[in-house]
Amino acid sequence: MTENKVLIITGGASGIGRHASYQLAKEGYAIVVADFNEDGANETVTHIESEGGKAASFKVDVSKAEQVEAMVDFAVEKFGTLNGIFNNAGIGLVKPLLEMDPASYHKVIDVDQHSVYYGIYYGAKKMVELGTTGTIVNTASIYGSMAAKGSFNYNAAKAAVVMMSKSGALELAEHGIRVVGVAPGFIDTPILGDDPEMKKALSALHMHNKLIQPEQVANVVKFLFSEGAAAINGSTVAVDDGFLS
Ligand code: NAI
Repeated sequence: MTENKVLIITGGASGIGRHASYQLAKEGYAIVVADFNEDGANETVTHIESEGGKAASFKVDVSKAEQVEAMVDFAVEKFGTLNGIFNNAGIGLVKPLLEMDPASYHKVIDVDQHSVYYGIYYGAKKMVELGTTGTIVNTASIYGSMAAKGSFNYNAAKAAVVMMSKSGALELAEHGIRVVGVAPGFIDTPILGDDPEMKKALSALHMHNKLIQPEQVANVVKFLFSEGAAAINGSTVAVDDGFLS
């Protein structure tokens, strides 16, 4: 059991972030459920509290540096310390490259890439200031290492997340902070939309011909935050049912 330890989970109102919040709260962490969907974040908190866990919600737009800094300060004010961040909030915005205007490109880079830099930067600075050790986990994607049509912006952002996990790990190891990534395949969350034909086609790309459940990604994230993962550093772990194999 992990007593008196505090984690921030971005994108905690839904999908992977919500299930990671549930599972890590059960491990004993106090969780700051951070999201710009306030109602969803509050629902996650209520669920955690109903199971006897500790959590608080924080409304944040992770693409804004000052809001991420405020989120980190909130965690320490609320629960007294900080032992890690799951930089997980993200969006997709699919368009062919010839229609990928600067606004569509920058939107995804801001939310999926710059947010991870802000989380690592403000999170690690605070942990070093407090003298705490811990782990930062970043959500990348299989599309951080392979190209997909319509995903020029997302490919660029997620490839950067893979590299930020390596680069962050290299610089923060001396402070007792591990940085790792998780690269999901196709996960059954709202980000995929609700077209059944599309879901069927995506399922067929996995070795077991079904979508991966967000709980299955959360299982791996929980492990990455644990002492058992002490030798995993800088890597991005695929949770893709063999898609990239
Ligand atoms: P989701 O849509 O269920 O959850 C994403 C959460 O992020 C939502 O609660 C949303 O409100 C929040 N969010 C979005 N933009 C935000 C912002 N600017 N500030 C604060 N919160 C914001 O989707 P899912 O699948 O749980 O996504 C989590 C991460 O997993 C994302 O980074 C996504 O790119 C990644 N991923 C998902 C895959 C999938 O197939 N579902 C595959 C590979 C990666």
